[in-house]
Amino acid sequence: MLEDITRENNSKLNQNEAPISEAMDKYARDGALAFHTPGHKQGLGAHPRLKQLITPEGLRQEVSLMEELDDLHSPSGCIKEAEALAAGLWGAKDTMFMINGTTGAIHAMLLGTLRPGDTVLVPRNAHRSIIGGIILAGAQPIYIVPEIVEALGIAGALSVAAVRKAVAENPDARALIAVYPTYYGMAGDLQAIAAILHDHNMLLLVDEAHGAHLKFAQNIGGMPRQALDLGADVVAQSTHKVLGSLTQTSMLHIGSNRVSGERIREAGALLQSTSPNQLLLASLDIARLQMATEGVERLERAVGLSRWLRDNINTISGLYCVGEEILKGTATVALDFTRIIVNLRGIGLPGPEAELVLRHEYKVQCELSDNNNLLFIISMADTEERAHRLLAVLKLLASEHGRERAEKPVVPMGLFTANEVALSPREAFYQTRKRVKFTEAAGCIAAETVTFYPPGVPVLCPGEKIRAELIGAVQRQMKAGMRVVGPGDSSLEYIQIVEPSPGTQMK
Ligand SMILES: Cc1ncc(COP(=O)(O)O)c(C=O)c1O
Repeated sequence: MLEDITRENNSKLNQNEAPISEAMDKYARDGALAFHTPGHKQGLGAHPRLKQLITPEGLRQEVSLMEELDDLHSPSGCIKEAEALAAGLWGAKDTMFMINGTTGAIHAMLLGTLRPGDTVLVPRNAHRSIIGGIILAGAQPIYIVPEIVEALGIAGALSVAAVRKAVAENPDARALIAVYPTYYGMAGDLQAIAAILHDHNMLLLVDEAHGAHLKFAQNIGGMPRQALDLGADVVAQSTHKVLGSLTQTSMLHIGSNRVSGERIREAGALLQSTSPNQLLLASLDIARLQMATEGVERLERAVGLSRWLRDNINTISGLYCVGEEILKGTATVALDFTRIIVNLRGIGLPGPEAELVLRHEYKVQCELSDNNNLLFIISMADTEERAHRLLAVLKLLASEHGRERAEKPVVPMGLFTANEVALSPREAFYQTRKRVKFTEAAGCIAAETVTFYPPGVPVLCPGEKIRAELIGAVQRQMKAGMRVVGPGDSSLEYIQIVEPSPGTQMK
């Protein structure tokens, strides 16, 4: 099976090697007396707690910038080899290792492909990192509202029809930035979307933060295919979110010749440290090695466990674990089975409350909760024993904490509706600001982002007009236990707005 995946690769690549960690090991064993950074000098001056945390061997190898360790921003040695192995495995034209998460990868993707003033099409449920990238690039977003899955009260995939309409209305747009799949594992028809965009000379840039594992599930019926195989021009993947690399590590894949890999690499160099942590880079390389050698088997197990869990959760009275039936008649063409969405309507428990019960009473932590659902991620690390434990705990949640069935799902439509864009996010970012009471901000132009985290989707971006309906919807979400990030005042008593110029009437 692995052969199926790697057949398309350059046959000279040896996926059993880990060039970065091999080079680190070589330098450490060479025994050169260190008169260089980092200051702990290969662990010599490290505090015992740090030694315990990273291990003496890890600290011995925690060096960077030596000749054999290569330069992330202009790779020619072990990093170049490691990136080529990753490109070969995922099927990219080129791959860049990123050390500032998928946020950094998305920023580099946008800065490296857009120019100030470019129009970009963006789904309204885009992650805040996309808005940050738009500010950096100086682009002008046109928001497309994704499909709303009313039964679950969440945003779903972007429909082909909505993309076709946005493209027709904005023929000069430079690109569409897709979120594929969504946090909840919903994947739209990206291949059809790519075809529409390319027909109109537009780029498909993909935030595939939640899809680095999809390549290894490509032979499992029903699983979404990865964006690189569906026509994406550039793809940012969170290796750390679903595979085995350290938190903060991601990959940026170039999928076509429509973009300049050189320019994107230059953007990455602008945004990232000149002293990248070698342990982070090695972890990306080792995660690639792990997936090349065991990825298909591990994904088969993860999907198998997920199916088993789904079937069994659906036997628990009051709980509904979402499956393929939800796709019928929607824009979502495939569901990532490893995202376990448990709908709580039948036990009348709001998601945030259920999350706290699970965490403190049963010592189980979900990935996120929303008004109506809990989301659990099954990864390539999970085992049968862990799946059994989750099932047992969900049974207890339903039997011990269940209430009356909720009459209908909470659908926070006030949050999903697109806001009127008065200024580009970058213009708003640089304007003079003023602090006003959030409850009195209707009609004002926001100068900061308001996001519920997770999932990290801004409900208000800099430059957008604040709707009265939005204020009410945000307050209801906060009251229900959802956490706001973005504004300087996270209690959201106050919000920063763009200072109106004299004589401007704001309503
Ligand atoms: C859809 C999406 N895109 C991008 C990101 C940013 O990824 P990172 O946390 O690796 O910076 C996230 C993080 O949750 C996300 O959910």
